[in-house]
Amino acid sequence: MTKLKWGMIGGGEGSQIGPAHRLGAQADGRFEFAAGALDHRAEEGRAYGQRLGIAADRAYGDWTEMLAGERNRTDRVDLVTVATPNATHFEITKAFLEAGFNVLCEKPMTMDVEQGEEIVRIAKASGKICAVNYCYSAYPMIRQARAMVRAGEIGKIRLVVTNFSHGHHGDAGDANNPRVRWRYDPAMAGVSGQFADCGIHALHMAGFICDDTVEKLSADFASTIPSRVLEDDAMVNFRMTGGTVGRLWTSSVAIGRQHGFDIQVFGETGGLRWASEQPNQLIYTPVGGRTQIIEKGEGGLHPDAQRLSRVSIAHPEGFPLAVANIYCDLADAINGEARDGLPLAPDGLRSMAAVYAAVESAKADGVWVDARPPMFR
Ligand code: NAI
Repeated sequence: MTKLKWGMIGGGEGSQIGPAHRLGAQADGRFEFAAGALDHRAEEGRAYGQRLGIAADRAYGDWTEMLAGERNRTDRVDLVTVATPNATHFEITKAFLEAGFNVLCEKPMTMDVEQGEEIVRIAKASGKICAVNYCYSAYPMIRQARAMVRAGEIGKIRLVVTNFSHGHHGDAGDANNPRVRWRYDPAMAGVSGQFADCGIHALHMAGFICDDTVEKLSADFASTIPSRVLEDDAMVNFRMTGGTVGRLWTSSVAIGRQHGFDIQVFGETGGLRWASEQPNQLIYTPVGGRTQIIEKGEGGLHPDAQRLSRVSIAHPEGFPLAVANIYCDLADAINGEARDGLPLAPDGLRSMAAVYAAVESAKADGVWVDARPPMFR
């Protein structure tokens, strides 16, 4: 199979998410790193792109130059990843979709609901793929959990409880560090801080495993470090369309929690538990029965979980390989074999509608608010 050509915007040297994309895209030999505009500083971006092996004429200074350079090439990139800071996602994703490129956009896909709806419409009209990097949904044991729920193995879901809480912004003395401060500044981060940054991963995961969507929510936001305008802690209660009760806690001041993303799903005949710090294991308890550990790579997994288990049982498979699973599904989709489970623009839009609903609710002392995007009501 010939390799697809891949380009990236953002993710420059020293960025947080750039390495995970480069490892993920190239892990299975499905993509060749062919073009990039990797840094907000043109010369640094060009130089770093070439050090990573991109040809000099395709190591661009900025994304507009990359769009102009790629659009008329016969060997133009098949997929563009947008891994820049949040406020730029909309205009870059829109421009590349309109020019007929497939796009993988980092979360949050846009800064507001209207932009999200526009991306959904443009992606549909273009016939191109617009995926959003909800990469945790591509861990094999999350695919196993979703398949078990779909197969009725834990019965109708009563309750889903999820946390995405860490303590890395919990030092008040470090709150003015520019790398931390922007996340709580509305001019840079938008209407929400921690909920839009980490909470939406947890909310997407709840919908993904339960195979359902969020209908309404009630939120309590707190800025526990007083200089912060936006919330650094949030508790969100939600209801899903199918009636499932949801509870979500997200925090960046939970000192002692490192990457505290976990989820529990409670059905009428069993329960499931997964934590991102032990991603190879899914804990399953049938009603009245013993608790069992289901391991990535073991026999008898559902096919999607088996397909995405790469190395043999008990060898750790971490975050970059979850991202690689997103790229595998994208390569299949680009080659005409659409994969169920790939997070797409409507997922990005639903997240943004939930962010706006949570902000509205928190301002009104937790009143319940419709969390569905207007175009899906
Ligand atoms: P970062 O600040 O560490 O790196 C951003 C990179 O983008 C830098 O290399 C910068 O030079 C470059 N850049 C900025 N503006 C640019 C522009 N206009 N054109 C080209 N390059 C530009 O940011 P980080 O943490 O890597 O986050 C980037 C995005 O990834 C954010 O939207 C964030 O929400 C998302 N993210 C997603 C994660 C996930 O689990 N899916 C995890 C971490 C971040």
